[in-house]
Amino acid sequence: MGPDRGVKREGSGEGGLASRLTVEDLPTEVLRGRRIFLRVDFNVPLDDRGRVTDASRIRGALPTLVDLRRAGGRLILASHLGRPGGKGDPATTLAPVARELENLLGAPVRFLEESPESRAVQDAVDELGEGDVALLENVRFEPGETKNDPGFAEVLASLGDHFVSDAFGSAHRAHASTVGVAQQIRKKGGRAVAGFLMARELRFLDEALRDPGRPFVAVLGGAKISGKIEVVDAVLKRVDRLLVGGAMANTFLRALGLEVGRSLVEEDRVPLAREILEETGDRLLLPVDCVVAPEIERGVEVEVRARDAIRPEDRIADIGPETVRLYGEELAKAGTVVWNGPMGVFEVPPFDQGTRRVAEVLAQATRGGTVSVVGGGDSAAAAEAAGVAEAMSHVSSGGGASLELLAGKVLPGVEVLEAREPETAGPGSTS
Ligand code: 3PG
Repeated sequence: MGPDRGVKREGSGEGGLASRLTVEDLPTEVLRGRRIFLRVDFNVPLDDRGRVTDASRIRGALPTLVDLRRAGGRLILASHLGRPGGKGDPATTLAPVARELENLLGAPVRFLEESPESRAVQDAVDELGEGDVALLENVRFEPGETKNDPGFAEVLASLGDHFVSDAFGSAHRAHASTVGVAQQIRKKGGRAVAGFLMARELRFLDEALRDPGRPFVAVLGGAKISGKIEVVDAVLKRVDRLLVGGAMANTFLRALGLEVGRSLVEEDRVPLAREILEETGDRLLLPVDCVVAPEIERGVEVEVRARDAIRPEDRIADIGPETVRLYGEELAKAGTVVWNGPMGVFEVPPFDQGTRRVAEVLAQATRGGTVSVVGGGDSAAAAEAAGVAEAMSHVSSGGGASLELLAGKVLPGVEVLEAREPETAGPGSTS
């Protein structure tokens, strides 16, 4: 544990995102021998054989685990993986994650495959010694999890004396293991604080969003379009420029009255896209050219077409080189950039080029002093694939969560943590 455990620190102002207590604020005597319910986000990609292909989210939680073990806590970890829909599913078991965690931690991890309600799990938790670590099976195997069912939250709360959250990636979800359990533990007199990863994410995003360098530029993309147009509207209120790529751009192109062929479009959002375009003028930039193909398949022959020359048989699968150049110019002069979502179907080459180029240009801008925050599994993976993740100011472990923050929303998984008392002026203060 650090020498300053339990000592009040500066730099986490009143009301800001970063104004939550952290594990460092809990003295060792509060932790030693106590059961710590630690919500992590181990929603990691697995290959066909169930092996973890990107362990960054597991690595991200290690500092908190190491610290709590040293302080003598008995750790019960909980996470979701995928969206199994409230019932058991071998494809999304956390068993491989338990093994990966064991390797990375260099200590045994007891995997608790029974339901948290079972006697077996309750007994296993009772048996944990100081510094021991257990991982519950995927909490989304339980129907009460995503409904934030109070009964299920109570079951989870019966497993812990204190609650720590390092699950920034899930902080936009008000579920039993992210919110309900923390409320119940606090009701019983336990503590509910942020882990190191959560605290770091909040500090970075707080700084980036509260007083961004100008111009403040957002880059939004990704395959999922549902719900994102609404985010665009909110994000536009905060940024000087918004660069759009990915499937979402198609809905805007359609709103401009352009042909988008067989590309993904949210038809029911076209009127909203038109309204946004009318209101925002040149603050919103759309692709001027696109990479198209008859099918989105690895190695398929592609064409670059101006956005007003897309044919009915085309599928748009990436931004074109002229768009890359224009977006690059905006990124090069930005003070702060928040990037969320790839520009094309980057996991299927050759549709990865636009995303890679954006990642490279952003890394270059960062070297020149731009603050860059990359949010989301896909954009983080793209930055990694382009070999420039290290060059970014901050690569966030949360995609949806960082996007909701950017849109000005309150994250329930952060709100439930204990807030830091506002600094009060001392007796000798002249202010
Ligand atoms: C993520 O990967 O974005 C988080 O783990 C949240 O997952 P979810 O969108 O399935 O809630």
